[in-house]
Amino acid sequence: MTTTPATPLLEVTDLVRHYALPRESLFAPPPLVQALNGVSFRVEAGRSLGIVGESGSGKSTIARLVMALDQPTSGSVKLLGRDLHRLPRAELRTARRDLQMVFQDPYGSLDPRQTVARIVAEPLEALAETSRSEQRERAAESLAAVGLRSTDLGKYPHEFSGGQRQRIAIARALITRPKLIVADEPVSALDVSVQAQVLNLMQDLQQQFGISYLLISHDLAVVNHLCDEVCVLHRGVVVERGEPLRLFAHAEHPYTQALLAAVPRAEPPVRARAQPA
Ligand SMILES: Nc1ncnc2c1ncn2[C@@H]1O[C@H](COP(=O)(O)OP(=O)(O)OP(=O)(O)O)[C@@H](O)[C@H]1O
Ligand SMILES: [Mg+2]
Repeated sequence: MTTTPATPLLEVTDLVRHYALPRESLFAPPPLVQALNGVSFRVEAGRSLGIVGESGSGKSTIARLVMALDQPTSGSVKLLGRDLHRLPRAELRTARRDLQMVFQDPYGSLDPRQTVARIVAEPLEALAETSRSEQRERAAESLAAVGLRSTDLGKYPHEFSGGQRQRIAIARALITRPKLIVADEPVSALDVSVQAQVLNLMQDLQQQFGISYLLISHDLAVVNHLCDEVCVLHRGVVVERGEPLRLFAHAEHPYTQALLAAVPRAEPPVRARAQPA
């Protein structure tokens, strides 16, 4: 290990993102959407953090800023001590090896004209360090890790079910052997029966490869499956944080209570995480 134990895998400090909307009149200032208003959290290596909140609370804005796909108004995102928004472009590209993303929509996030082999190997191409044959080999390994076969490499996304497509998206995220995967609503577009399979796969990968997740969801039960800690986001501010089961049992903030009441379940699901050996 080159990092000291004190360096968190991810450290987000006072993150603010305001969007200026188009002016309504020449003389009025442009209206501001305050999507994030000072969000801070840490993810230690091998631990996972959930972000829950209703639609529009700022969850995907956090994901985009952590992935450095968007610039913050102020605040910082540090991955293993490196401030991603201040890194030169070439260094950011290398830092992305440790940081991958899985999106909500397994239909829209995979290019329909590319083969699975190309889709899964795409993050390696950005790093430009591997030969074509090595890329194919690594893509086959990644597919095996998510329960698909190397014979699937030559197929196209439309030949797979929604759950299988999300497995392909996870295989693509795994190919650089990342330390952190940002997953924005990874199962909410899937059938309920398939959701549990994909969550179980994500849990297996967490244990097998020591991956951390920054898992974004509107559903506390999904977060409970994979995360050690959860932050509740409301209008761009973290209003409560803690262990998922504690929040299930004793939510203190009225917004968290309202969020729990909106989940159509009589009881929280049993936490299925195995203890690390
Ligand atoms: N590019 C943008 N320009 C202007 N406003 C934006 C932009 N992106 C996000 N917003 C606004 O910022 C707020 C937070 O959006 P965000 O997408 O982060 O919410 P979310 O919690 O992910 O919601 P959902 O659960 O519906 O995905 C919303 O009010 C949204 O309209
Ligand atoms: Mg979103």
